[in-house]
Amino acid sequence: MCGIVGAIAERDVVPILMEGLRRLEYRGYDSAGIAVVDANQKMIRLRRVGKVKALQDGLDENPVVGVIGISHTRWATHGEPNEVNAHPQSSGDHLSIVHNGIIENYLSLKQELLDAGYEFESETDTEVVAHRIDFHLQKNNDLLAAVRATVAELVGAYALVIVSSKFPDRLIAARCGTPVVLGLGEGENYVASDVAALLPVTRRFIFLEDGDVADITVASMKVLDSEGNNPDRPVRKSQLSENAMDKGQYSHFMLKEIHEQPEAVANTLAERVAGGHLLEQAFGHKAHEVFSKTRAVHIIACGTSYHAGLVARYQIEQICRLPCSVDIASEYRYRNAVVADNTLYVTISQSGETLDTLEALRAAKKKGYLAHLAICNVPESSLIRESDLVLMTRAGPEIGVASTKAFTTQLTALALLAIALGRGGALDADTEQKLIGQLMQLPDLLKQTLKLDEEIKELAKRFADKLHALFLGRGIQHPIAMEGALKLKEISYIHAEAYPAGELKHGPLALVDDDMPVVTVAPNNELLEKLKSNLQEVRARGGELFVFADPDAGFKSEPGVTVLTMPAHVEEMQAPIVYTLPLQLLSYYADVIKGTDIDKPRNLAKSVTVE
Ligand code: F6R
Repeated sequence: MCGIVGAIAERDVVPILMEGLRRLEYRGYDSAGIAVVDANQKMIRLRRVGKVKALQDGLDENPVVGVIGISHTRWATHGEPNEVNAHPQSSGDHLSIVHNGIIENYLSLKQELLDAGYEFESETDTEVVAHRIDFHLQKNNDLLAAVRATVAELVGAYALVIVSSKFPDRLIAARCGTPVVLGLGEGENYVASDVAALLPVTRRFIFLEDGDVADITVASMKVLDSEGNNPDRPVRKSQLSENAMDKGQYSHFMLKEIHEQPEAVANTLAERVAGGHLLEQAFGHKAHEVFSKTRAVHIIACGTSYHAGLVARYQIEQICRLPCSVDIASEYRYRNAVVADNTLYVTISQSGETLDTLEALRAAKKKGYLAHLAICNVPESSLIRESDLVLMTRAGPEIGVASTKAFTTQLTALALLAIALGRGGALDADTEQKLIGQLMQLPDLLKQTLKLDEEIKELAKRFADKLHALFLGRGIQHPIAMEGALKLKEISYIHAEAYPAGELKHGPLALVDDDMPVVTVAPNNELLEKLKSNLQEVRARGGELFVFADPDAGFKSEPGVTVLTMPAHVEEMQAPIVYTLPLQLLSYYADVIKGTDIDKPRNLAKSVTVE
């Protein structure tokens, strides 16, 4: 979603603020802005619609220098993406603030401010917060106290950073429901919405908790919790490498991340298995106790992570013989779910900051689940901090908005979970060893599959001019078809839908004609013959088929049917992960032809920290 950077130093902070924004730009990007206090103690603010580049061009024309400042990339929530609504928002000529999140009671607060004579120029909830801080400053000339008084009035989610030219020696930051990280430097300090923004300047971070307000000067960081106490917030060292954020030889992060999957899956398996067995402690020290009591599983996630959950349901039912249900987080939150005894609650999230998933976890905590387990890619995230058991996916930073390696590493982690849960009951030691062996073959299978790159690039040429596409799969491949359709629509803006192949005849078949490409994944499994019959229904209506098929599945290319043969036969445990790759490549290359902004598709953001 939006990105925040702040810095206070004895040197010009503008390069730190701008580099931080470039590193956060993948999160949200309809406008960007910066505010610094200059040598004459004047607040200078510059905002631009569009990418960070547009803001940099503005700075090149009107250079700004200052030792304290804040910057922001915005993904619009309240008010359209224009310069007036861009952040920083201000109050008077002295106060500037940046904000991620949504203030739900902003209209009532605004009315009080209008009555007190404040004027508003934007449609944002953030401007209300800026004036509110100024309002409290009038009564008590203390910036920290004014921010604390303001946040006590706010209902909603926020990460805030505030600077005032009347207090040019401090930045104030506040968090509720939206991440804020403080970065510790040598004789300078920083704040951001994500560690990635600050990696060029520090590796030492303090993570604020909900309700915290931080007072940041060049020499100190003071954190107060909502009660006004000084809580213990440890300094953590990030292991992320700075160049994890570079595209290297690839033209887009998405392509780089697709090609990183063999390594990412290998990293996710490493140290979690030994001698053909799963190391249960990888999920945390309470894992054995929890897993041995688990009688049902409830999985919650959004988007691509939800698709990973749908795959896991098949495995948990098949391998563990445990009931498993899967819910979209934003729906679960408002559904009065009935929780059977000893149900394990599992959240899946790449970022660990998706507000719907976090709030679903918080709601679940009141419902008496056995325990809460998170499958997540960001160790410092809120989801990790709030869960009892954790299995980290080790995909490394994923910058492209479209999730690729995060998805396949989630599938890998979930397969490990199915084995861990099965172990106490339905899964015998030999089968466990066999399944682990199959998982260990994955990195190699993925490398072979990526060699289809050139062939898929050619195939994509026949796709890019289409307006619609259907994706079909059966059984455990249905969620993979759903993921293929999501990838195509989110980055190429081609309308794509996925169906279980057997469901086609119950309605969607009416859409099929010679202008409707139909993509399907066809591993050689027990549903293959059923799938073939469904594909005949498509051919009979003139639909053009694109089949990613097992070498022994018996498909042949012919007019109207293009078969792309996968490099090897794969087992049921491997198939969802392996068959995801060609679908990712297909949408990537369709997008290259269409010329869309692949890493930053319109209207979307990497980490969705609003409801
Ligand atoms: C699609 C995509 C999104 C995310 C969803 C959940 O490519 O990336 O659908 O999967 O927004 O995000 P996380 O996994 O961070 O909770």
